[in-house]
Amino acid sequence: MENVEWLQKGLVVLLSIAFFWKLIRYMWSFLKTEKDPVRVLVTGAAGQIGYAIVPMIARGVMLGLDQPVILHLLDIEPAAEALNGVKMELIDAAFPLLKGVVATTDVVEACKDVNIAIMVGGFPRKEGMERKDVMSKNVSIYKAQAAALEQHAAADCKVLVVANPANTNALVLKEFAPSIPEKNITCLTRLDHNRALGQILERLNAHVSDVKNVIIWGNHSSTQYPDVNHATVTTSSGGKLVRELVADDNWLNTDFIATVQQRGAAIIKARKLSSALSAASAACDHIRDWVLGTPKGTWVSMGVYSDGSYGIQPGLIYSFPVTCEKGQWSIVQGLKIDEFSRKKMDATANELIEEKSLAYSCLN
Ligand SMILES: NC(=O)c1ccc[n+]([C@@H]2O[C@H](COP(=O)([O-])OP(=O)(O)OC[C@H]3O[C@@H](n4cnc5c(N)ncnc54)[C@H](O)[C@@H]3O)[C@@H](O)[C@H]2O)c1
Repeated sequence: MENVEWLQKGLVVLLSIAFFWKLIRYMWSFLKTEKDPVRVLVTGAAGQIGYAIVPMIARGVMLGLDQPVILHLLDIEPAAEALNGVKMELIDAAFPLLKGVVATTDVVEACKDVNIAIMVGGFPRKEGMERKDVMSKNVSIYKAQAAALEQHAAADCKVLVVANPANTNALVLKEFAPSIPEKNITCLTRLDHNRALGQILERLNAHVSDVKNVIIWGNHSSTQYPDVNHATVTTSSGGKLVRELVADDNWLNTDFIATVQQRGAAIIKARKLSSALSAASAACDHIRDWVLGTPKGTWVSMGVYSDGSYGIQPGLIYSFPVTCEKGQWSIVQGLKIDEFSRKKMDATANELIEEKSLAYSCLN
């Protein structure tokens, strides 16, 4: 009898300790002025986009002005010295939000405990190379990095693939990191989305905050379909459809689409280098909206795992209109698709199906 009483008393004491411990932790989370740092991996960090994106992340452009970060920078051995130079510059910039820099050529060290992974590193297409050769190089890079992320990243790590072929690299990463939820693996089409916005803004002489809901469907390639059928502009007399205000279907269905599709090539022609500033900025937009949410009534374009929405083959990484809330994206449903759009959405899906089989043939 006495033993039972002691047991009961012991249990009460234990429960009380557990209760007070939880209460203290709960109150501490309110009292604490600074958030815990988020670990952000940037692969290919010694490259052009890497150099443009790391200061943006360290300044809070990606995760907010109250979010400290620790940057993990990965590149390959031949770029080790340049990578160290990037690290030195980050230290010299004395960013208040930057709580640490890990610069390494070791993929395991780079992936350790990362919460967000921006995959910029990859093998570029060089003169005289066949498409299959480039694909083969990137498939092996993404296979190896998928394994490292799967084993060493934080369990809820969010992945954004930037390196081309972005959709198919993301697909390979998903295949070889089966324990990372497919909802956590995405690719960048936000640059194309922003390019489409830019063309409309120029045409209408409007401000970026007034135009919303353009869509990029499909592949981050010249088959992508920039669609303005659901896009609107805020005017002094309320919201208007972009199509109504532009009042030039011929331009919207030809030159506008071609300009967005070919913008990357136009930048290379002008700069003799591919887009870096705008790509880095778009990658920050992608992660910011994914983590912090899209504004009410607004969607953005993200390359995500297809669940069969809009008749797109399940299992492709395809760019859809998405809204984000509490760190989760959802494909916008129920948009009316006309015959013109259908053809273009299917054409870019077909290219992705072809890329997927090329990638698989490289694996075998
Ligand atoms: N999705 C998009 O919207 C978009 C836009 C612009 C560029 N891109 C692509 O982004 C990629 C990077 O562009 P960039 O201009 O920064 O190129 P870059 O050549 O300047 O830099 C690439 C970096 O990746 C590194 N790298 C190569 N293999 C690696 C590996 N296995 N692991 C880690 N790092 C590795 C290289 O050493 C280099 O430092 C390219 O594939 C480019 O086509 C995509």
